[in-house]
Parts: sequence; structure tokens; C-alpha cells
Amino acid sequence: MKRVEALIGMLDLNNYSFVASLQGLIKHLGLQIEWEGEQVEVRLDRMHTRPYRVQDEECPYRVIVNRNIHWNTYATSYFASFAQRVYMLNDVASFLSMNKNTTYGHMSHLGLNIPKTWALPIRSYQGLVDVPIQDLLYMDHDAFDLREIGRDVGYPAFLKPQSGGGWKGVVRVNNERELLEGFEASGNVPLNLQAAIDFQEFVRVVGIGPQMLVMHFNPNAKYSHDRYLRNERQAVEFNFISPEHHLETSRITRMINGFYKWDHNSCEMLIDKQGKVHPIDFANACPDSSLVSLHFYFPTLVKYMTQWLIYCAVTRRDKGPGYAMDWQRYFEIAERSDLSYTQRLEAYNAVAHDYFNTQHFVDFCAKHLPEFDQQAQDFFSSEEFNTILEKEIKYYFTLRHEWPQKIAHYRGIHEFYLSCEREKLQQGTAPATVVSATRV
Ligand SMILES: Nc1ncnc2c1ncn2[C@@H]1O[C@H](COP(=O)(O)OP(=O)(O)O)[C@@H](O)[C@H]1O
Ligand SMILES: [Mg+2]
Repeated sequence: MKRVEALIGMLDLNNYSFVASLQGLIKHLGLQIEWEGEQVEVRLDRMHTRPYRVQDEECPYRVIVNRNIHWNTYATSYFASFAQRVYMLNDVASFLSMNKNTTYGHMSHLGLNIPKTWALPIRSYQGLVDVPIQDLLYMDHDAFDLREIGRDVGYPAFLKPQSGGGWKGVVRVNNERELLEGFEASGNVPLNLQAAIDFQEFVRVVGIGPQMLVMHFNPNAKYSHDRYLRNERQAVEFNFISPEHHLETSRITRMINGFYKWDHNSCEMLIDKQGKVHPIDFANACPDSSLVSLHFYFPTLVKYMTQWLIYCAVTRRDKGPGYAMDWQRYFEIAERSDLSYTQRLEAYNAVAHDYFNTQHFVDFCAKHLPEFDQQAQDFFSSEEFNTILEKEIKYYFTLRHEWPQKIAHYRGIHEFYLSCEREKLQQGTAPATVVSATRV
């Protein structure tokens, strides 16, 4: 039988642990998958940037994991030029054209509970690089009264950049004065004004293909890397939301990701005091995937990504023609008046499962990765992974004297993860990862 290599390329300049773990786990699996008369070996390589021939560059990859979309125009154009032949995760064009506003709009039309949001024009063109001749600018704003918009949205509210990230420029405004001050200070960054949700729980779901990882999130943590800790004394809390909310938040994320054809995206949702789920931030081209942030959840994220990458690479998964979106079926469901909110979500979710070809993926994993959970457990228990963990901590925390305490902290959480997994594996109660993550 002919042996071929399915190569996966990954460009992620910001993240050591994610790339190294994916690479390590895939290597550890040592796959030889028989697929359509070929013996397929899978390998993941960290991509390096280098000059390339624009007209006739060969692309050695079957799949590319792109985690630099927003700022790296070199990488963006390199990836885009192969988009017709290579499976792109995430694809470049949709993330360049979809931001917070477009996604808020579409998802409101589909019936999700998006908080009331107004998009405000840019306050000032000063400093915009592509407007070099300031004197030639004429004011194109219609006169508008921000106070009226403030009254419509209500207080408190959030002023936040339309294409945001990392909470940069996000301001909570409690009254009209703070709103006007916030807008004045915004300069050339276009903002949204969004009603604040008084929430009982902040949920963040990361979707990888059809697999959903549901996590609690603590926006009040002092450091961003501590936000996935339940609190200062507890790393994780299982069942922190009801099974119904677990299902609802998973379905919302899956339908968003299916709708935009996003393979790896996170959705932030606030559950209000009445139990209503409000998505507030769900166009995240490069969700935080670092071990120092995700700690307990990190191995699961790596496992989900590994399974999805292997599936896409071996079966040569196809997203459909060009960059085309396929929204018809979603909007047909939106227009039906006979469906409740829950039934609608169920129907959208079925369309998303169709797009991700979930059953095929589940069958593939059952057949070709039957020992995956145990193999992953071996990898995450290995010295190799321990080294990745230590290295990541030393990259991230630059104060040397903090290292021993930080390493002990992350090792402790990781040991806890391993013991939870061990228990599930011994009891045989763990369904294959892929089934539990896609079942809903
Ligand atoms: N409508 C809202 N209600 C309550 N809190 C919000 C709202 N919008 C944003 N926030 C808070 O601000 C943070 C950053 O806003 P977000 O929209 O997620 O921007 P970014 O893209 O920068 O992450 C959120 O994680 C949340 O804590
Ligand atoms: Mg956010």
C-alpha cells in the first residue's frame, strides 16, 4: 500500500505550549491510517515565515492552522493564496469580514439574546494611517445625539471597540457623563455601546469543529491568565451550570461556528439572573489556547484539536466552494413562527452538525483512533509534557523568583486533571472524548 504523509502546518507565534503539545501528541499516536487505498501518516509542523514565490509556490500542507489572522498581512496573504487547495483553520476571509457588529446582527436575526447594541461612528479621523491628508476630510457624520442613544441602551453599559480583542479599549459607563467622556476619549477607534448584563455566570465555550469545551470564566480575576480559575482557592468547578445551560451554550457556539465555518472559535456568554443566555463576544479568530490560561482545560483542548486535525487531514475535509457561506438553511429556520427558542436552537444545531459532518467524524475517530483517550493520558503524563509545561511557564512568567511557585501551581492542577482522567479510564465510564464533546 502506498505510504503518504498528511502534513499539518501551524503558525502561532504567541503560543509555545499549544503547538508543542499538538505536535507531541500527534507524534506520540504514531498513526498509520488506511484511507482510500493509502497508508496515511500524520505530522504537525510549526510553520516558519520565509519569502515565497507568489505565482507558483508549492504548498506542502493539507491543513493549515492559522493563529495570526489579525495583524500579520504576510501570513494572511500566504494562507489566502492556498485557500482553494488547503483546509484552512480558521479561514482568513471570513475573519477579515466578520467582526463583533456583523456577528451581533446575524445572531440577533437568528433569535439569540444579544444585548441591545448601537454601533457608533468614529469620533475622530486623526491618526488614521490611510487618511494622510487630514485637510481634505469632510465630516461625514449625520448629527446624532449620543445622550439619546445612551437612554435607549440604558445604564450601565459597555463602550467597546467594534473589532476588539483582549479587552483593549473596553469601558463600563454608568451614566451619561461617563458615556460622553468615553466617546470623546475613543479617538479613531469605532465603538459599540452595549447594554450591560447583570450576570450570575460567565461561560466561555471553545468550539473545535463540532466539539464543544464549556468553561467557567472569572472576569474579575486580577491577571488575565487567572480568569479560568474558579476562584482564588479552587481551580475548577464541575457542573457549575445546569445540564440545560450546558446544552444551550454548546448549541449556541456550535451554530455560530457552523454558520461562519469557523473551526476554532470561542463564544463568551453571560447567564443573567433569570437564567437567560446572552452571547457578548463570539468572533474570536485566535482564542486563548495557552496552558497558563487554560490549565485544567488545556489537555482537553489539545485532544479536541488533535482529533479534528487528524480527521481533516486524513479525509481531506472540504469546506465547500471558495469562501461561500451557506446561510439559507439557518434563515429559513429563523423565519418559522412555529418554533420556540429551544426548538430553534435545536434546529440550527442540526444544520451545524451537518456542516461539520459530525457523525462521519465520530465514526472516523471510533475506527481510527480507538485508544485515543488512553494514548493522550500517557502523553500528558510523560516527561515530554512536563518539559512543555515548565518551558511555557518560564516563557510566560518573566520573574525568575516566581518560577518554583508557578511550576508547583500548574503541576498541581495538571496532576488533578490526570487523576480525574485516570478515574474515568479505569471505571470505563468515559465515553470516547469525541462522543462526549459532540453529543449535544
Ligand atoms: N454587555 C456586557 N455586559 C456585561 N459585561 C460585559 C459586556 N460586554 C463586555 N463585558 C465585559 O467586558 C469584557 C470585554 O468585552 P468583550 O466584548 O469580550 O471584548 P474583547 O473582544 O476585548 O474580549 C467581557 O469579558 C466582560 O467582562
Ligand atoms: Mg471577550
